[in-house]
Amino acid sequence: MTDGVDWAARAAALDAADPLASYRDAFVTTGEVIAYLDGNSLGRPLRATRERLAGFVDGPWGDRLIRGWDEGWMAAPTELGDTIGRVCLGAAPGQTVVADSTTVLLYKLVRAAVDAQVGAEPGRTGIVIDTDNFPTDRFVVEGVAAERGLELSWIRPDPDAGVTPEQVRAAVSERTALVLLSHVAYRSGQIADVRAITEIAHQAGALVLWDLCHSVGSVEVALDEHQVDLAVGCTYKYLNGGPGAPAFAYLAQRHHGRLRQPVQGWMGAADVFAMAERYQPDDGIRQLLSGTPPIVGMLPMRDMLALIDEAGMPAVRRKSVALTGFAVEAADALLSPYGVRLASPRDPRVRGSHVTLDHPDFRQVTAELWRRGVIPDFRPPHSLRVGLSPLSTSFAEVAAGLSAVAEVLSPRRPSSSSPSPTA
Ligand SMILES: Cc1ncc(COP(=O)(O)O)c(C=O)c1O
Repeated sequence: MTDGVDWAARAAALDAADPLASYRDAFVTTGEVIAYLDGNSLGRPLRATRERLAGFVDGPWGDRLIRGWDEGWMAAPTELGDTIGRVCLGAAPGQTVVADSTTVLLYKLVRAAVDAQVGAEPGRTGIVIDTDNFPTDRFVVEGVAAERGLELSWIRPDPDAGVTPEQVRAAVSERTALVLLSHVAYRSGQIADVRAITEIAHQAGALVLWDLCHSVGSVEVALDEHQVDLAVGCTYKYLNGGPGAPAFAYLAQRHHGRLRQPVQGWMGAADVFAMAERYQPDDGIRQLLSGTPPIVGMLPMRDMLALIDEAGMPAVRRKSVALTGFAVEAADALLSPYGVRLASPRDPRVRGSHVTLDHPDFRQVTAELWRRGVIPDFRPPHSLRVGLSPLSTSFAEVAAGLSAVAEVLSPRRPSSSSPSPTA
């Protein structure tokens, strides 16, 4: 089905006018993939990462060997954390660390937060979370609640949108220890109001932990300015750190020394090489570490952070808004005639860097798209997520990808004869 618009030509004009277009050359591409629309799940590798990884084998690892620990590896978790904080999070140095996976850091921070809260006020035994939060976030708090005898309060957001400040206001009370939410909802892509929600939680005496997996590197964050207490995020999406790259955690300076994470290991000790008899925690951000830092896994994200630093987060966000806006427009025109529904916000101010589309056949459609070299992802029960990584995705990829969705849907009977907006 065609709507008379030459989407490829429109995309070409937008690419020609894109001030960040030249950054696309920095990424590894292969001829087989014609549209990569899953940068919100796994970012493309950078060309520079090839040399960085090979160079590491011959240089710091192969040549410096164990001396590498004194020559930068021991400092890497905080040095890289500070870079993520400066470039992407609006966080002053000394509050961000790279370690573990998001899941493990969530566990450490949730436990640290609720233990400190219950320790100060024994009646503060509640955790507020939403039913549409990412599974790992829900599973971790369910585990901690069972372990520590806490109660969970569930916010039920509109799945096409996200948690609102009003819902948080209604959910928190003098019994709430912690509120755990995602900045950008993994399903709808809605951006939560960090400033308002954090303020509401604080008024109730609760701490707030933000999951930044879907915002870091694509949506601006201002952790210090918004008085956020704790945050976590992954680095394999918009920070292009590669599969299984370690995550980061943020703990505001004012909580250092008061919040203690539960996985006590030698790397979080005040004096790592004292080989002491008893654990004495570091009084800074290093306390969040447990075991040996994953140095190799930290290499690729450095290249992406350098690129984002050069382009600047405001420009990255502008490109993201332009890409998702184009995707919404193309979906309205090309896909709504087949009954495809927009399950993301129309307002770009509250839309992250992915757009979710719903159709009952999207599971099978996604499999066929992958065969054709068009790579979005599928989220049950029937959502296609179109993830647009601002520095590596072209408008041409968006046009090619959504045209391919229309082509795959075209043998199916349209749900109505006249196009309607994808609601
Ligand atoms: C919002 C959110 N939180 C957490 C995770 C994953 O956690 P981990 O890095 O431990 O696999 C994801 C993964 O996609 C996510 O989208």
